[in-house]
Amino acid sequence: MKHLSPVSLKVNGDAYELSIPAWRTLLEVLREDLSLTGTKRSCQEGQCGACTVLLDGRAIYSCLFLAVEAQGKEILTIEGLARSAGALDPIQKAFVETGAVQCGFCTPGLVLAAKSFLDENPFPSEEEVRRATVGHLCRCTGYFQIIEAVLAAARERAGKGAQL
Ligand code: FES
Ligand code: FES
Repeated sequence: MKHLSPVSLKVNGDAYELSIPAWRTLLEVLREDLSLTGTKRSCQEGQCGACTVLLDGRAIYSCLFLAVEAQGKEILTIEGLARSAGALDPIQKAFVETGAVQCGFCTPGLVLAAKSFLDENPFPSEEEVRRATVGHLCRCTGYFQIIEAVLAAARERAGKGAQL
C-alpha cells in the first residue's frame, strides 16, 4: 500500500486538501489530480520550461518540485492568470498579437516566466528579456516573436502604470 501524505495546496486562489504520495511532483498533481492541464509536461528533467508555474510569484519548473514542498505557498498556473486579470492578461494578449503563439505548447510556461520577470523588472532591455527566456524551449517561433511579445507586454504594463 502506498504511503500517502496530507497536503494543502493553494492554486489560483483555490484551496485543495489532498492525500498524495510524498514523491509526487507538483506537475503531476496539477495535471492529474487537479485537471489543470494548461501546465505542460515535456522533458520532466528541467530542460524545457514547459511546466513552469509561479510559486509565491517566482517561476519554477513544476516537474522538479515536489507537491508537498508547495504547501503554504501561492501557486499560480496559466488558468489562474487570465482569471485574476478578468480577461486575457496583457502578456497573453501580447503573445497572441505578436504571433508568439504557434503550436502553443511552450506558451503557458513562457507567459508565466514573463510575468515573474516583468513583475521584478518592469522596464527590461531586449538583452534582459533574451536572458530571462533562456531555459524555455520553443520549436516553432524561432524566439524572435517571443522576445517581441515580452517587450510589448512591458510597454503595455508601463502604459497602464500598474503592476499586473
Ligand atoms: S517538463 Fe519541466 S522543464 Fe521540461
Ligand atoms: S509555439 Fe510551439 S513550441 Fe513554442
